[in-house]
Amino acid sequence: LHLSGPGARGHARLGRSGAVAQPAAEEPGEDAEVGTRKKTFAEVQTERLNQAERTVLIKCPSKVHEKKLLQYLSSHGNVKSHFFFENRGINALIEFSEKSSIASLQDAVGIPSASEHHVVPFKSRLFTFTLKNPVSQRIEETPIHLSPQCHIPVKDLIEKLCLADNISSQMYILLNEYQLTEENIKLRFLACSLVRDFACAYFPDSTVKPFGSSVNTFGKLGSDVDMFLDFCDTGKHATKMKKGPFDMEYQMKRLPSERLATQRILSVIGDCLDNFGPGCANVQKILNARCPLVKFSHQPTGFQCDLSVSNSIAIRSSELLYIYGCLDSRVRALVFTIRCWARVHGLTNSAPGTWITNFSLTMMVMFFLQRRSPPIIPTLDQLKELADEKDKHIIGGYDCSFVSDLRKIKPTKNTETLEVLLCEFFEYFGNFDFRRNSINLRKGKEVNKPESSPLYIWNPFEQDLNISKNVNQPQLEKFIAMARESAWILQKEDKTQQMINKEPWGLAALLIPFGKSNSSKMKNRMKGIGSETIRSLLDSLKLNNANSQQKAVGK
Ligand code: CTP
Ligand code: MG
Repeated sequence: LHLSGPGARGHARLGRSGAVAQPAAEEPGEDAEVGTRKKTFAEVQTERLNQAERTVLIKCPSKVHEKKLLQYLSSHGNVKSHFFFENRGINALIEFSEKSSIASLQDAVGIPSASEHHVVPFKSRLFTFTLKNPVSQRIEETPIHLSPQCHIPVKDLIEKLCLADNISSQMYILLNEYQLTEENIKLRFLACSLVRDFACAYFPDSTVKPFGSSVNTFGKLGSDVDMFLDFCDTGKHATKMKKGPFDMEYQMKRLPSERLATQRILSVIGDCLDNFGPGCANVQKILNARCPLVKFSHQPTGFQCDLSVSNSIAIRSSELLYIYGCLDSRVRALVFTIRCWARVHGLTNSAPGTWITNFSLTMMVMFFLQRRSPPIIPTLDQLKELADEKDKHIIGGYDCSFVSDLRKIKPTKNTETLEVLLCEFFEYFGNFDFRRNSINLRKGKEVNKPESSPLYIWNPFEQDLNISKNVNQPQLEKFIAMARESAWILQKEDKTQQMINKEPWGLAALLIPFGKSNSSKMKNRMKGIGSETIRSLLDSLKLNNANSQQKAVGK
């Protein structure tokens, strides 16, 4: 057995992991993660960050002897958990019970011999594991289990959806296929923890934490990791010094603005990752953006990463979405469905532009859920009412307080099925008066637009910011047209007939790009018809559909 620090790196294709048994579809009340998700956002973050610090990543030979690897590692301490995944070859994520095991392991591993390349002697927690004499060592026959780190292609998803019983189950199947796995979450926190090792070289007290969809319960396999550098101790030190008869403070470099400090810090850490970070590639410093950041691809974990400096408001929105995502199992299923639908129809795009972002789309779903009767999730003002002293957060003059303890929030009395919610979502936004109204999650009400952006979604914490300012009129119109078309498809469809014809039905039918001719037909159909007319038309179709389904059941 031979372990070495990251040396020559293979450039194998970033492949999909092997087939793995999929968990059963998530249904309300059957969520295995409920136990963890009821914890507060801060508790989950602390636990995960702590876990990541006890974790290492090992690149393995293609035929790895699992038992021997674990046996070797256990000589440095107890291995608490581990899994294998494919990313430019086979990799193992190893979580030790104690952080000290890592130092012990680091002491024992070698430095790669620099025959062709010169190595930068930065000792990370990324190792390469090779067999000293592969021929003489018998490889065990049982293949190792590879944990998938990306979701199945839409084509395969559609096939799976067609086997479901109803649209609600289809939505839970989609959620199960796309949501982050326990393993993927561990890998995301490890990526942050590895970046932290660099940041700590300059700022020993700093931490690197994920935010955005990696932690807000709406992350999908394959999405980027948003991370920020946090100098969490600055506030604490200020209060410490107030006590006692003396006043003592650090001498620190003073700069004319916070922005400049942020840019300088990111610039240096970006250079550090670029020059010395094992597997950090395509490092791009985007320091003039509204929120300065460093983009890079972290090859050992396979993630595209965005590193910024502590943005307290973005963290509050991550926690707010976390709370909404934990409150009711329908919330996440609906968001994942809408996000997937939007991606298929080109309403969202991974490149920045004038289209709606996943973040805006998620906020629109939250708003819709606040508008149900009875509401499925509370407004932000209601969550603020429930906040206690420790939940108080005033950031840059804005009151960003809301309750963190999920148990204080009363469960909803709303019992609508996901199927109904999906259809109503399309109808609601297909008929929303975007010209006049804006979306305000704090009040849970449509309010007059304060300015003329086509789509106005209030930033829940910085009340004068529109989170969807980038969206232009054509993109908004495309969204409205697609929503109307989707409502129409769901209402008119005859599931039984489609199943007999082996045609995609329900959600599956919505995830197939609508033909061009079809969509222009749709526009004509909708032109000049008032929403009431549409509603009654759709209701009559709903009745017809229910009748035909009933007939089919009776047969
Ligand atoms: N954010 C924000 N205001 C915006 C855009 C983003 O406050 N106009 C914050 C949100 O907290 C968001 C995070 O930055 O969750 C990350 O942004 P982004 O990566 O665009 O969204 P995600 O929620 O991470 O979604 P995705 O899965 O598409 O990355
Ligand atoms: Mg993101």
